[in-house]
Amino acid sequence: MSSLYRLALPVLAVAGSAYAACSHTATSTIQNQGDASAIASCKTFSGNIAVKTDVAGVIALDGVQVIDGNVAVQDNEKLQQLSADSLEEITGDLIVKEAPELNAVNFPKIKSVGSIEFVGLPALQNLGFDAEIEQADRIRIENTNLQSLEGINIETVETMFIANNKYIQQIDMQLGNVSDALTLSTNNPRVNVTFSNMIWAANLTFRNCSSVDLPSLESVNRTFSLIGNVFESFSSPNLTTVGGALVVSNNVELTNISFPQLTKVGFNVEIANNTKLREIEAFPKLQKISGALDMNGNMSKIELPALTEVAGTFNIQSTGQVQKTCDDVFEPLKKNGSIRGSFTCVGEVANPGGEGSTPTITGGQAKKTNGATPLDVTGGSLLFGLAAAFFL
Ligand SMILES: *[C@@H]1O[C@H](CO)[C@@H](O)[C@H](O)[C@H]1NC(C)=O
Ligand SMILES: *[C@@H]1O[C@H](CO)[C@@H](O)[C@H](O)[C@H]1NC(C)=O
Ligand SMILES: *[C@@H]1O[C@H](CO)[C@@H](O)[C@H](O)[C@H]1NC(C)=O
Ligand SMILES: *[C@@H]1O[C@H](CO)[C@@H](O)[C@H](O)[C@H]1NC(C)=O
Ligand SMILES: *[C@@H]1O[C@H](CO)[C@@H](O)[C@H](O)[C@H]1NC(C)=O
Ligand SMILES: *[C@@H]1O[C@H](CO)[C@@H](O)[C@H](O)[C@H]1NC(C)=O
Ligand SMILES: *[C@@H]1O[C@H](CO)[C@@H](O)[C@H](O)[C@H]1NC(C)=O
Ligand SMILES: *[C@@H]1O[C@H](CO)[C@@H](O)[C@H](O)[C@H]1NC(C)=O
Ligand SMILES: *[C@@H]1O[C@H](CO)[C@@H](O)[C@H](O)[C@H]1NC(C)=O
Ligand SMILES: *[C@@H]1O[C@H](CO)[C@@H](O)[C@H](O)[C@H]1NC(C)=O
Repeated sequence: MSSLYRLALPVLAVAGSAYAACSHTATSTIQNQGDASAIASCKTFSGNIAVKTDVAGVIALDGVQVIDGNVAVQDNEKLQQLSADSLEEITGDLIVKEAPELNAVNFPKIKSVGSIEFVGLPALQNLGFDAEIEQADRIRIENTNLQSLEGINIETVETMFIANNKYIQQIDMQLGNVSDALTLSTNNPRVNVTFSNMIWAANLTFRNCSSVDLPSLESVNRTFSLIGNVFESFSSPNLTTVGGALVVSNNVELTNISFPQLTKVGFNVEIANNTKLREIEAFPKLQKISGALDMNGNMSKIELPALTEVAGTFNIQSTGQVQKTCDDVFEPLKKNGSIRGSFTCVGEVANPGGEGSTPTITGGQAKKTNGATPLDVTGGSLLFGLAAAFFL
């Protein structure tokens, strides 16, 4: 054996083991800080990392810059802090789930993550992403004590689901488009939401928000729902089309809605159970509804001046005096075929209901509906009931 070869061999061995240590096909389970330090000594670590469920205290992955894989902390009762002072990217999923003692996830340099799932973290009050995450395909944040989403500032996302975070005061990011769905639900009832740059989204659902501001929104490709919010007014000043259903329901403080540019809705328009909504002058340009129109509540004024087509059922039931509008404005649209589905339009109804419910008139004469027989889908989901009426 030449001396050269004898010298080279240990060098190769070290290089080989360093390579092996930084790239694992099996999940590397961290059982103590020593394991974490070994992983963190790699500049790039390839492989999935999991923190064992009984690890307590602090785990620091200080040093590693890229983790090409997933990082998971799940069902851990004792971990208090997870940190990685140099980590810039996780290519896979960052899953931190059901860790009641965890009060800090400090990744001050991180900018890119495949997906983020923070669920069941009652001690976590802020995201420790000081440099701000600018890229993540999917985000789910649920059941945390986060005060804000500061640290996430993405331009585009597939899905974002933010629910049951009782202390978030404000949601405000540069998000420009949502290719699948954005859902905000049952967070702090006083949460104020602003997406100043959002131009389009596939599905949008806002539940239990205090305010929702979408000044640039031009189109929602599928469903747009505003349910159980506590705002008094809502305006979508730049929205021209909704490809699926538009739902505005159970917003108990709502007195004014405004969709001044909206011309087309690809499926149902449903406005229901907004107890204080007296006037609907929200749709000056709405021409075409490719599903059903369903409005029920306490309205005494309903204007749809541009309406030329409703492909599905038409149902307006109100405690207010809308009968004249029904007779003078909407019935002619039914008669000339602009409204294609069954037709119900009645004012002074005792218990105004959704499509399929039979109106009980309080005062005056009972006004016959123009539909075939009243449908028997009471209690059924309005959207699906209507869909059936429309497609059958
Ligand atoms: C949201 O905005 C309203 C109106 O400006 C304000 O009264 C409320 O305090 C804000 N909510 C929070 C959590 O700051
Ligand atoms: C989505 O938004 C981002 C950021 O505004 C933009 O770069 C991208 O082109 C948009 N994608 C589409 C399909 O509109
Ligand atoms: C949604 O609509 C916008 C505007 O019409 C379009 O640019 C975008 O590609 C659509 N997105 C999806 C997921 O269809
Ligand atoms: C978006 O809406 C479409 C159609 O309404 C639905 O099929 C899809 O599952 C929705 N996506 C999510 C994540 O809700
Ligand atoms: C509203 O949409 C128009 C074009 O459709 C655009 O020029 C304008 O900047 C948008 N307004 C806002 C506030 O985004
Ligand atoms: C949230 O909204 C739902 C309707 O979607 C409503 O039933 C519920 O009471 C609201 N919750 C809170 C905490 O306001
Ligand atoms: C309803 O809101 C729109 C848009 O914010 C506004 O222009 C209109 O004056 C409001 N209507 C009433 C009756 O307050
Ligand atoms: C409106 O409220 C009634 C009575 O609480 C309920 O049966 C119905 O499902 C609600 N409609 C919608 C669209 O939430
Ligand atoms: C009409 O208003 C009354 C009083 O505010 C409320 O109790 C009732 O639920 C409202 N009805 C509908 C259908 O919104
Ligand atoms: C139906 O009647 C309405 C109102 O009278 C009118 O504006 C519309 O052009 C008519 N449509 C058809 C198809 O005749």
